[in-house]
Amino acid sequence: MQPTILAIESSCDETSAAVIQNGKVLNNVIATQSIHEIYGGVVPELASRAHQQHIIPIVASALKEAKIKSSELDAIAFTRGPGLLGALLVGASFAKGLAMALDIPLIAVNHMKAHILAHFIDDPKPEFPFLCLTVSGGHTQIVKVNNPLDMEILGETRDDAVGEAFDKCAKIIDLPYPGGPHIDKLAMTGNPNAFTFGKADMDGLDFSFSGIKTSFLYFIRDQMKNDQAFITNNINDIAASLQKNLIDMLLEKLIQASKKFNINQIAIAGGVAANKGLRTRLEEESQTHHWKVFIPEFQYCTDNAGMIAMAAHFQFLEGDFSTLDITPDPRLPFSS
Ligand code: KG4
Ligand code: ZN
Repeated sequence: MQPTILAIESSCDETSAAVIQNGKVLNNVIATQSIHEIYGGVVPELASRAHQQHIIPIVASALKEAKIKSSELDAIAFTRGPGLLGALLVGASFAKGLAMALDIPLIAVNHMKAHILAHFIDDPKPEFPFLCLTVSGGHTQIVKVNNPLDMEILGETRDDAVGEAFDKCAKIIDLPYPGGPHIDKLAMTGNPNAFTFGKADMDGLDFSFSGIKTSFLYFIRDQMKNDQAFITNNINDIAASLQKNLIDMLLEKLIQASKKFNINQIAIAGGVAANKGLRTRLEEESQTHHWKVFIPEFQYCTDNAGMIAMAAHFQFLEGDFSTLDITPDPRLPFSS
């Protein structure tokens, strides 16, 4: 059976709904919460409240846009975790209520696996096994994907996520939240070799991003002591250098993983996969290492229900349904 599924994403600060039919994502409606900008980070309580305001109109417009009546749905999918508990609860409660009212199955989706499965929304699709570098505000992982429901983490961050490093460093130089896209834009006209920042070296395929954040903080503080206008006068070079340092750290481990497992199908996923510097660098490295590179469309990099819908489709085909007493899990392990 090729199902029609409504999927809901509410793990952080985007409320999103999507409809998938016969494995094809029909739409991806997203309401971004701008309220957090003034606080310099996501405020969990405000996120939950905004999800409550957005969820009904977002779901209604996803169904309307896809020309699907709720009676035509075969299942309701939602993000079970990881994410913010209050935010996850809004999506989970709504999904459960709707599944119960329509008397159709419920599908609980792992947000991190869904980021990877976003690669199956559009063509070209990677072949199994492939490696996926998942880079977001909460995670940095290299994953070996054996099939849509069988994935293993080869390496991950021991402290901050790379998106967090982008955002925290951006805050140090007074850029708005989230800083990643601002660094990306400023970096376009900067010199990536202008400055270097100390970083921790990790053994194996794990990452560490807390060291570079601290050395970036000390570097800026020291420069500002001598020149109050240092940030203003060098903003593009600072952004480009920071971005290059972070991308170098990601690529070093990705190259190692590709050699170790002899896999040359390489994908990137998660919010930081929207970074133009990373996308360009990956294309360049693909020439050197004979990689076939897969980069999702921008709308499927940051949090979105399209990827939840794609994951739910695979789970539906395997009969992987949940009971109505399932609870969201802010720290949902990758293995579940
Ligand atoms: O996957 P995502 O939307 O949410 C999480 O699950 O965390 O990722 C959000 C992260 C933020 O840290 C944001 O700064 C980063 O993705 N991000 C970027 C870019 N666009 C989003 N980082 C660097 N360059 C970008 N263009
Ligand atoms: Zn995410």
